[in-house]
Amino acid sequence: MSEMKRLAAEKALEYVEDGMIVGVGTGSTVAYFIDGLARIKDRIKGTVSSSDQSTERLRAHGIEVMDLNATGPLSLYVDGADECDGNRRLIKGGGAALTREKIIAEASKTFVCIVDPSKQVGILGRFPLPVEVIPMARSLVAREIVRITGGQPVWRDDVVTDNGNWILDVHGLAITDPVGMERDLNQIPGVVSVGLFARRPADVVIVGGEPPVVL
Ligand code: 5RP
Repeated sequence: MSEMKRLAAEKALEYVEDGMIVGVGTGSTVAYFIDGLARIKDRIKGTVSSSDQSTERLRAHGIEVMDLNATGPLSLYVDGADECDGNRRLIKGGGAALTREKIIAEASKTFVCIVDPSKQVGILGRFPLPVEVIPMARSLVAREIVRITGGQPVWRDDVVTDNGNWILDVHGLAITDPVGMERDLNQIPGVVSVGLFARRPADVVIVGGEPPVVL
């Protein structure tokens, strides 16, 4: 699958235009995109990064990383996903970077999602849905998630997010109404972000292959 990821990332480079500040996601697919971006780094103004991990890789290539508060809205955001449905709605957060990813997606005019074919699903939910929570609210949020969704939240107890929070992964979901579930889970006090990108889906999905497929 790593070759499929690389092919999707290479195709996404075609969306980068001269002088852009590019939003950069997190994960192994995005790592290929960052490596490709390094080849054209003199053409862009800089980047906004969604994680410490991506920031480190960008800086190692000598690519400038900027503060979203200073850049204002972005033209382009490129990120991976854990699942993608036929309407370009996503589950993200396998790498625990969902909150910053959601912020950058919201700030960007065009969100290009790069995936390998294994990420495509008919109904979201086979991949456990990540929810970032304030630590003191972990049990409260877990109980509410069970009540609202019927799914089984599992604490990812070896992970602290870049924002100092914790992750619950919700197993056993078949998400037939992604926008509704995103809205309902966002209402629970203590939830920082829900890894459903349905209200603001991707604008373009590139599925890696020869040739890549653009959805
Ligand atoms: C990180 C993410 C990633 O985009 C998602 O986990 C996909 O990762 P990979 O490209 O390694 O398969 O949402 O929070």
